[in-house]
Amino acid sequence: MIATGEFADGPVLGIETSCDETSAAVLIGPRLAGHVILSQDAHERFGGIVPEIAARAHLRQIDHVVGEALSEAGVGPRDIDGVGVTAGPGLIGALLVGLNWAKGFAYALGRPLVGVHHMEAHVYANSLDAPGLEPPFVALLVSGGHTMLLHSRAWGDYILLGETRDDAVGEAFDKVARTFGLGFPGGPEIERTARDGRPGRFRLPRPMLTSTDLPGDSAYLDFSFSGLKTAAALLAGELTSTGGSERLVQARPDLAAEFQEAVIDVLVTKTRRAVDLTGCNRVVLGGGVSRNQHLRERLNTELSGTAEVHAPPPRLATDNAAMVACVARHRLLAGERSSLSLNADPAYPFPGLTPHLT
Ligand code: KG4
Ligand code: ZN
Repeated sequence: MIATGEFADGPVLGIETSCDETSAAVLIGPRLAGHVILSQDAHERFGGIVPEIAARAHLRQIDHVVGEALSEAGVGPRDIDGVGVTAGPGLIGALLVGLNWAKGFAYALGRPLVGVHHMEAHVYANSLDAPGLEPPFVALLVSGGHTMLLHSRAWGDYILLGETRDDAVGEAFDKVARTFGLGFPGGPEIERTARDGRPGRFRLPRPMLTSTDLPGDSAYLDFSFSGLKTAAALLAGELTSTGGSERLVQARPDLAAEFQEAVIDVLVTKTRRAVDLTGCNRVVLGGGVSRNQHLRERLNTELSGTAEVHAPPPRLATDNAAMVACVARHRLLAGERSSLSLNADPAYPFPGLTPHLT
């Protein structure tokens, strides 16, 4: 059954529960009128996200989070004209909470519903603070679960240029931070620690930047972070075994700086290759790792004169429902509707994505 109802570009409610942020947003036209993001800190002591805890926390928080977003926007449930919800990818239990909530809401009020792909939403986040921003562009998506380079020729039309063959870049930040004895999430911890250090004192590999990675070879734009992660862990282990944890703590700023530099060298090089290959003069960023200031600065510097780099404000770069509402509004305006049998899917296919033909 399709959640029926006309859509007249009235307020759109967006819901995001794919990982550990419970978030709801209200877009009125292109304007973000209400937005609440509740980050779950219950995972910190486990050093990673515990799926069952995430799902239960979403369940406890979602009514309240939606209620707050509506009141911030100054609208009531009946004013909502359409609903968008992340249907995947993500943690199944976590996704189900948001999806079922959204389905119930859409059904009860007779409003149209649209399922949204989480990573496509990270691309759209760029248009929230820059309404004139339009494809074509290269998108570098760097999160805890994904690392992708896309060529977007139009909204909803993407070519996959490259992706990770093993760990996502955010996952590597989180795991390496743990081996360095830093907290969770690891990305911000490594960035902070690296400010007091300098790269080069220790040497880590820059995976998949070798001369054999040529245009036409899929390795040219693909990524791999698991070897780098292991190399960083081995280095930390060596320092601890020769000088105890004090030696590790003393070396940590330089270790963090070298790890961050290695990751950024790879991301910047591959993004520049993607720009050269596609001829795009614009690059957009998305995903939690794109909050990294050093990454933003290096991309800006090294692409200056070639491409303009756009990154969403930090709050919109990480997981949030505003980006979900933004995709939903586009799709609702295009006449798209999801059926009420829409299911959460941890491997939800990226709509409009075609593989790069080499
Ligand atoms: O997009 P996101 O909020 O959630 C997913 O969809 O995965 O990304 C979360 C990831 C985590 O791995 C976190 O460590 C990383 O983004 N992250 C960062 C920074 N802030 C968050 N990585 C590097 N530098 C940062 N400043
Ligand atoms: Zn995300």
